[in-house]
Amino acid sequence: MTMTVELGGKVAVVTGGSRGIGYSVAAALLDEGAKVFICGRTGDTLRTSLESLGCAGRRDRVDGVAADVSSYDDCRKVVHGAANRFGGVDILVNNAGVGVFKPVDQLTVDEWDRTVGTNLSAVFYCCREAIPLMRQRGGGYIFNISSLAGVNPFAGGSAYNASKFGLNGFSEAMMQDVRYDGIRVSYIMPGSVATEFGAPPGSTKAPESWKLTGEDIAKAVVDLYRFPQRALASRIEMRPSQPPRKK
Ligand SMILES: NC(=O)c1ccc[n+]([C@@H]2O[C@H](COP(=O)([O-])OP(=O)(O)OC[C@H]3O[C@@H](n4cnc5c(N)ncnc54)[C@H](OP(=O)(O)O)[C@@H]3O)[C@@H](O)[C@H]2O)c1
Repeated sequence: MTMTVELGGKVAVVTGGSRGIGYSVAAALLDEGAKVFICGRTGDTLRTSLESLGCAGRRDRVDGVAADVSSYDDCRKVVHGAANRFGGVDILVNNAGVGVFKPVDQLTVDEWDRTVGTNLSAVFYCCREAIPLMRQRGGGYIFNISSLAGVNPFAGGSAYNASKFGLNGFSEAMMQDVRYDGIRVSYIMPGSVATEFGAPPGSTKAPESWKLTGEDIAKAVVDLYRFPQRALASRIEMRPSQPPRKK
């Protein structure tokens, strides 16, 4: 017998849900009937995103809070904010991330701390808070948005590579910690996605059509969730199928 898992009525937390991939994931989960709680650091962007996510009669299924997930206290605020607003937590999408790309000797200590704090420590903070809440609900699903930079190092990527390599190892170990509690863990490693990631503030570069979109990553999240409970696709690589040819 196939035991698929449906999303209707489930409560999802999406960090960095105010823009980019996280916004697309939040929108896709709402489309499937889930209740969604998002966060981002910038209050104005968060409010605008909550308005657009809440259109078409979904206002009562979406909420969020301004938070910086590199702070443990803010992660507590996000995860418990979702539980207080919607009655529990079933799904956690650790998506918020930053990229600073410089050679090691030019990278500041603050840039290192911000990258590792947002891309790796924040995931531990949010999982630490969400796992007991998921156990109370009989299980759950944690998605960690990693990157192909988590398996492919490159010059200038020391902080970003370290954070995403670390995230992959964290995800695999945690998967083994929580699997018998009915909590599934997948980490998704996209290649280039057409978002504002890493762009200087205010830049208006047109999206490149060969790249993945946030909707592609969101579809992976929804499809993975729907897999029969017994099956876990724990490590996903997603890349543009036709990137520009190397010259
Ligand atoms: N775009 C790509 O090509 C690509 C490829 C592989 C993997 N990824 C990964 O995908 C994830 C999302 O990237 P994206 O392309 O969607 O980036 P994005 O367009 O820059 O969006 C990042 C989101 O995270 C939020 N955020 C950043 N730092 C935060 C913090 N400390 N606390 C709370 N929220 C924070 C941002 O809101 P605020 O700025 O308001 O905080 C925004 O909502 C990241 O983990 C990234 O490493 C991206």
